[in-house]
Amino acid sequence: MGTLPKFVIGNWKMLSEHAHALKLASEVAAYCAEHDHPHVKTVICPTFTQLVSVEEILKDKKLAPRKLALGAQDCYPAPGGAFTGDISAPMLAEIGVRYVIVGHSERRQKHNETSKFVCEKTVAARDSKLTPVVCIGETLSERQDGQTAHVLGEQIARSLPENFEGIVAYEPIWAIGTGVTPTMEGLQDDITTIRKLLERHQPKTAERIPLLYGGSVKPDQSAEIFAIKGVNGVLVGGASLKAQDFVKIIQSAPQG
Ligand code: 13P
Repeated sequence: MGTLPKFVIGNWKMLSEHAHALKLASEVAAYCAEHDHPHVKTVICPTFTQLVSVEEILKDKKLAPRKLALGAQDCYPAPGGAFTGDISAPMLAEIGVRYVIVGHSERRQKHNETSKFVCEKTVAARDSKLTPVVCIGETLSERQDGQTAHVLGEQIARSLPENFEGIVAYEPIWAIGTGVTPTMEGLQDDITTIRKLLERHQPKTAERIPLLYGGSVKPDQSAEIFAIKGVNGVLVGGASLKAQDFVKIIQSAPQG
């Protein structure tokens, strides 16, 4: 596990208008072009309408995906067909997308997405050679009821296909967009639990699965989060919309 790189993934959600997205992408790309952090993989996930323009910005800067890669926020399981309003994994791959977030709690909750559906998306991503970033996380009431390990276990068992190759992001729902983060001791316990669940459900690939934390990650505590054993990166919402904050988070990722 010591050999896994550190991931810093920015999820721009539906929070950025086009002009802002282009400016943000240019600023992050300029930083990544000028500074080498070989131990860090940085990914930005704009909304669908911004992907092509952002890809052009990355190309202009001649940025290798190793330094800064493009991600999408979702994909549909089918490769194509009559699915009004949906975007398939091959369509994303075709325009230079490398990563795709699936099963974000905002989709699980607001679009009633089941873990089975998330698993279908994960398979579609893999079939198009995209790296899936599969999100899991419990609600506050599940946590208060002592259900956290059970909920995470179910999500891991049902959202990941056999021999899963990709990234898992632990995003406790009560920490998303709230400014509230788990205590570092609490997060260490949860990460240890998730690592054990991955070993149980994905015995062949678990040690290759990077495990990220997401939920109110800010530049002033990202170093502490990176220091947690078993955390291989962060999935950042709000703070990824300010280039300065996002860059500080990249800088806080330790080597090794
Ligand atoms: P915030 O960093 O804004 O809490 O969002 C986290 C998140 O949902 C990233 O996917």
